[in-house]
Amino acid sequence: MSDDRVKIFDTTLRDGEQAPGCSMTLREKLRVAKALSDLRVDVIEAGFPAASPGDFEAVQGIAELNSGPIVCGLARCNPEDIEKVHAAVKAADRHRIHVFVATSAIHRQYKLKMAKEEIIKSAVGAIRLARELCDDVEFSPEDASRTELSYLAEVVAAAIEAGATTVNIPDTVGYTVPTEFDRLFRYLKDNVPRIDDITLSVHCHNDLGMAVANSLAAVAAGARQVECTINGIGERAGNCSLEEVVMAIKTRAEHFGVDTGIETTRLYPTARLVSSITGMPIPRNKAIVGENAFAHEAGIHQHGMLQHHSTYEIMRPADVGLSRSNLVLGKHSGRHAFRDRVRELGFELDEFELNRAFQEFKKLADKKKDMYDGDIEAIIMNVDSASSGPWVLRSMQVSSGTDRPSNASIALIDEHGSEVAETAEASGPVEAAFEALERATGVRLTLQKFELHSATVGDDAQGEVTVVADHDGQPYRGHGTSVDIVEAGSRAYLEVINRVLRRRERGLDSLPASSDINRASI
Ligand code: KIV
Ligand code: ZN
Repeated sequence: MSDDRVKIFDTTLRDGEQAPGCSMTLREKLRVAKALSDLRVDVIEAGFPAASPGDFEAVQGIAELNSGPIVCGLARCNPEDIEKVHAAVKAADRHRIHVFVATSAIHRQYKLKMAKEEIIKSAVGAIRLARELCDDVEFSPEDASRTELSYLAEVVAAAIEAGATTVNIPDTVGYTVPTEFDRLFRYLKDNVPRIDDITLSVHCHNDLGMAVANSLAAVAAGARQVECTINGIGERAGNCSLEEVVMAIKTRAEHFGVDTGIETTRLYPTARLVSSITGMPIPRNKAIVGENAFAHEAGIHQHGMLQHHSTYEIMRPADVGLSRSNLVLGKHSGRHAFRDRVRELGFELDEFELNRAFQEFKKLADKKKDMYDGDIEAIIMNVDSASSGPWVLRSMQVSSGTDRPSNASIALIDEHGSEVAETAEASGPVEAAFEALERATGVRLTLQKFELHSATVGDDAQGEVTVVADHDGQPYRGHGTSVDIVEAGSRAYLEVINRVLRRRERGLDSLPASSDINRASI
C-alpha cells in the first residue's frame, strides 16, 4: 500500500459496542459488519472474544462472513485471550490479532502493579505468541498519550522487534491535544528503530472533544491507520468519528496529501443503520451525517447557494450518500422501489423479511401521509425484533385520562401460534401496558431508562422508544416504533422480555452478571 493511503480501522463493534446502551445482538452485529464492508473499511475490529461467549460467537460470525476487510479481535497479553482471538478470527482470509497492555505510570502503579520491564516482557511474549498464530499482529500501549515519551519509544521498539506489524498509539482517556500529539508521533518516528517497517496507527477518545483533531494531527505526523467508530460511539464521550475523519481527509486532500479507501457515499446510510440499531440518536447538528449538516436556513446563505453551491458548501451531500429529497416513498410505491430503498439504507433482507417489511410499510402508508427514511428503518427494526420472538405483539388497547387510572389490554402470540392475553391498571398508560406485558409473559423487569424520539418529522411522525430494563441484575435494551407512542414503548419492552426469554432458553441464566455479558448473541 502506498504511503499516501490511510487505512481505516473500524472499532464500532468493539470499542463502540462497549459504550453503555450500545450493545448489539449477533444479528445486528452481522448487519453492521456487512455495512462496514460495503463502506470499504480496511479493518473491522469485531470484538473482544475473551470477554464472553457471546463476544466470541460474534467475532467468529463476522470472520465467517469473510466479506473483504481484515477481521480483528482484541486480546490482553495472555495466552488464553490470544488463542481465543485466533480461534474466533481465523475463518476470515485476512485476520489480525490485536494485543494491548497499559504503559502509563498511572496504569502501571494502580491498575497493573507492574514495573516498566515487566510490562515490556509481557508485551513481547504476547506479540511473539500472536505472531506464531498469525502474520498480522497489532500492538497497543494503552494510555500511550500519558506515558513517558522515552519509555513509550522503548515499548514500541520492543513491540516491533517482537514482530508487531502495526503499532497503535491510543489516547485512551481523550487527554492529549493536537500539537502535543504531533510531537509524540514525530518523537516516535525519530527515535524508534525500524518504525517505517510497520504501520503506525492512532486511536483517540473524545473526552475533550478533540478525538478527530488529534487523529488528524497524528496523520499529518505520519500515522497511516486511524481507529474510529461510526457516529463516534464509544466509551464515555466516544471515539474518533469515522465519517468526520474520513471526510476531513477527503475534503482537505491538498492539506493532508493522503487518501482513504472509503466509499464515502455509504457514510450516511451506515451512520443511520448504526443509530437505528443502537438506539443512539444522531444529533441534528452532527458534522457530516446530522440532519442539519447540509441545511441552509439563513436567507443570505440560501441566496449564496443559489448563485453557486460552493459559497457555503464544502462537501456535496451526495458525496456522503445523502439524497437531497429525504421524502422517499408513498402509499402507491411498489415492492421494487421499496426493496431498492431498503438496500440504499444499508439493510440486506431475505425474501421473507422483505415481504414482512413491505406488508408493514403498506399498513403504515395507510396511516401516514409521507414516508421518510426513518419510517423505513423503523419498520425494519420492528420486523427484525418481532422475527426474533418468542412473543409478538398481536394487539393492544389502552385507555387513559386525567381523572382516572389507565387500563391496558395486551394480546401476544408466540412462534407456535399460542396466544396469551392480559390486562392491567396503573397510574399511566405506559406503566399499565408494561405491567400487562409482564403478567402475560411472566418476566419481571425493573425499568431503568425510557427515551422517546421522533423518528421523522411532521404531526404524524412515528415515535421511537428505547428502553433499558434490568432482569436479575442484568441490563437489557430494546427499542420499538409506532405512530402510537404507547405501542412503541410496548414493542421496546417486549423486545427486552424476548431477550430475557431467549437467554433463558439458551441456558445462559447462570452466567455471572456483567453489563455487557452475552447479550451479543441473544
Ligand atoms: O482506548 C484504548 O486504549 C483502547 C485500546 C484497547 C486500543 O481501546
Ligand atoms: Zn479505546
